[in-house]
Amino acid sequence: MKKYLVIGNPIEHSLSPRVHNFWFKENNIKAIYEKKKLDNNGLKDLVLDLRKKKINGVNVTIPFKKEIIAHVNELSPESENTQSVNTIYLKEDKVIGHNTDIEGFELSVKEKNYDLLKKKILILGAGGVVPSIIFALKKMKVKNIIISNRTRGKAEDLKILFNDLEVIDWGSIPDVDMIINATSLGLKKDDEIDLDFSKFEGKKFFYDIIYNPEETNFLKVGKKLDCITENGKKMFIYQAAASFKIWHGIQPQINNELIKLLNK
Ligand code: ATR
Repeated sequence: MKKYLVIGNPIEHSLSPRVHNFWFKENNIKAIYEKKKLDNNGLKDLVLDLRKKKINGVNVTIPFKKEIIAHVNELSPESENTQSVNTIYLKEDKVIGHNTDIEGFELSVKEKNYDLLKKKILILGAGGVVPSIIFALKKMKVKNIIISNRTRGKAEDLKILFNDLEVIDWGSIPDVDMIINATSLGLKKDDEIDLDFSKFEGKKFFYDIIYNPEETNFLKVGKKLDCITENGKKMFIYQAAASFKIWHGIQPQINNELIKLLNK
């Protein structure tokens, strides 16, 4: 039986096994998808297992999306440009690192019928997923991207990958079309982002990468201001679907049953 894994640390919270095992059943694929907690020392052996076909595919999550790069043979252009890998697979004896977070974000925005062309974007946070979001935003031809992070230096570091970013201090809120919460603030139900959005005028798009809880306080503010809102659930599902397609050559279905499975 083929075996797939998601690796990370912590990993208990990962819903990837639920999604992939659901699609295995739907598509009559005899395989199993499990989660595995690793530390940095485990990455080398993991890639060896993939090469020996003991494992057939791996999803990589926090904090290894960058660290895994040293262990693969080749990066896709998406991974090269973001220095981030969330999907690995074997292709003609080479271990390939790819990034499907980009596609996940892009499809989730397109599904909202929101046209990003020439829009101004503010990203809150500078963690692991942010390079993928920036890459997707640029692909969709936004006008400019402003980054605000509590630790300003981490936002400045992103300029190494994307030199035309604008970095601003945490706390200042410029007038933009879309604001993306990519911080971990909101994971706990009581988390508040201590930022004042009340001066926003017009219909903005509030996007939160977090999907559990389903509606963070950040999204509640967006709703109150009668703005467009979206949580990270579709991004998560679409990145999983893109990995599934790479490993199995099948475009898996995203239906209500799957979405319900993630609500539990
Ligand atoms: P990593 O940085 O390891 O990739 P992450 O969960 O992807 O982790 O990123 C966490 C993000 O949430 C960071 O941008 C972090 O800001 P710092 O770089 O200053 O740590 C942000 N964050 C976490 N707690 C926060 C808080 N209380 N206020 C503001 N930002 C916070």
